[in-house]
Amino acid sequence: MCGIVGYVGQKTTMDVLLGGLKRQEYRGYDSAGVALITEDGLIASAKKSGKLQALVDEVTAHPLAPGHTGIGHTRWATHGAPSDVNAHPHVVDGGKLAMIHNGIIENFAEIREEMLEAGHTFLSETDTEVGAVLLGHLVEQTGDFRTGFAQAVNRFQGAFTVLAIHQDAPNVILAARHNSPLVIGFGDGENFLGSDVAAFVEHTHRAAAVGQDQMVEITPEHVRVTDFAGTPVPIDEFEIAWDASASDKGGWPSFMAKEITENPDAVANTVRGRVVDGRVEIPELSGLGEDAIRKFSRIILVACGTASYAGQVGAYAIEQWARIPVEVQLSHEFRYRDPVITPETLVVSISQSGETMDTLMAVRYAMERGAKTVSICNTQGATIPRESDAIVYTHAGPEVAVASTKAFVAQITALYLLGLQFAQVRGTLDDTAIARNIAELQALPGKLEEVLTTGPEIRQLAKWMSDTPAVLFLGRHVGFPIALEGALKLKELAYIHAEGFAAGELKHGPIALIDHGQPVFVVVPSPRESAEIHSKVVSNIQEIRARGARVIAIAEAGDAAVLPYADEVIRIPLAGPFFEPILAVVPLQIFAMELADAKGLDVDQPRNLAKSVTVE
Ligand code: AGP
Repeated sequence: MCGIVGYVGQKTTMDVLLGGLKRQEYRGYDSAGVALITEDGLIASAKKSGKLQALVDEVTAHPLAPGHTGIGHTRWATHGAPSDVNAHPHVVDGGKLAMIHNGIIENFAEIREEMLEAGHTFLSETDTEVGAVLLGHLVEQTGDFRTGFAQAVNRFQGAFTVLAIHQDAPNVILAARHNSPLVIGFGDGENFLGSDVAAFVEHTHRAAAVGQDQMVEITPEHVRVTDFAGTPVPIDEFEIAWDASASDKGGWPSFMAKEITENPDAVANTVRGRVVDGRVEIPELSGLGEDAIRKFSRIILVACGTASYAGQVGAYAIEQWARIPVEVQLSHEFRYRDPVITPETLVVSISQSGETMDTLMAVRYAMERGAKTVSICNTQGATIPRESDAIVYTHAGPEVAVASTKAFVAQITALYLLGLQFAQVRGTLDDTAIARNIAELQALPGKLEEVLTTGPEIRQLAKWMSDTPAVLFLGRHVGFPIALEGALKLKELAYIHAEGFAAGELKHGPIALIDHGQPVFVVVPSPRESAEIHSKVVSNIQEIRARGARVIAIAEAGDAAVLPYADEVIRIPLAGPFFEPILAVVPLQIFAMELADAKGLDVDQPRNLAKSVTVE
């Protein structure tokens, strides 16, 4: 999962490349590099390990000669440690050709042996350099950049998006993709390539996604897309729905801080346009057909990480509203369990990026076995929605921080809308219940705004707990996946052990973890709407308090039952049983961010992570 950018045109190429890499740095940030064809027809390049700023410093101190054709790459290492020599671009063939790559060339070992036998040598440990050397070899053999490129991409196996420039073709970038994302940006006398539209959104809103096994040639004058055999394919252009400022920090200390405050808009914008005359209407679902919706006998939600927890929250609501059995499967586990899939199975993928390889492979597996598929996705034109039968886009706007926040609540919102539409079609909820839940969804943004005001008290709590070695999270029913999400946020941001449990599971083992002073967050159900499980959770709080736990309860306004047993109470507004847990996640997002900040850690780009995991 790396960030890729390509540019041909009259702008200052270095500025376009560095700007595009900056907006995609969340895709990978352990090294970065650029290469361009200078005005005297040679390839100049620079690359540095470390974050993008190291490259910016390098090219500031040692400027490259100007040029009008260039490629750039920000890396998340797969083969070969983060280092200058392993960074992309890889410049080969006597400095005549440069290549960058996102993915894994799985047959790189056999190609490497073949190239060694042909007399080539290697500088790095990367699969990418092997690909670049093969490309250079084939260009030399065929005497033509385009022919050699087509032959090379037909040799690669695994997952790859590659961009290449050659000094013999000074105004051309060749690109190809297989199982890895690539989008085109169309300009006037200039054209762009990127891993996602963030690469060029500041220059153009005209874009198109490149399909599986397609090659692209861009020059300042034209864009040509073909399949791997060289046959032209149609280009489906779309308008990018957000502008560059949406992917700027906008004065916030971090993207995560900004995006947490955008939780309310993420819900409001995902609902917008999908409630008509008191009914849920998701136009994108029309591709499924009401008859199919009536016939579905099972729904499987496939996702990873935070998206899978959104699925767990949504599963409760969809099953209760639409009366369809719903299960959540981790994408990377799904196809290895040989699941029972029939034409009456609906597989719903949940993915902010729409490029998570594990989830893409799960969707393909399900479709090959006859399931209908719906993609819940936050990225226009991404691979997973393009390959699914129907799409429900979340409209959370670009989510740049690696740790997902606003996309999470938007995913739950989309799942709730889907559940309500299915309930309408299947007649499993009456109009009153439909109206009540729609009202809850429409009230959610205002209540989320109210929860955001708890920020200062949570920041103080995080400061007090900045040296805690471990934190536990408890929840029941819909609060259980919220506890899991709270734990994941803390793991990926503050790098400390954190674990979420179903509160009822405590006595079956985890309570042994409770020692004096052990911090435990508890997502408390509503005493009004969920009295039975509310009282059980209060009992759980008493059990852990009796064993020395330090309890931080997240409870609705006015819930007095928790007061005698909680060290801290974070209040959330009243809402329905499926809606309060969405409010409860925001204090957990803020806590994780503030604790990471208190520890001086990088909130937006945590170590070892990347925003989009495009390798299995
Ligand atoms: C969440 O904070 C993490 N960044 C990670 O768990 C993420 O949700 C997961 O990798 C799925 O990504 P996707 O939604 O883009 O498919």
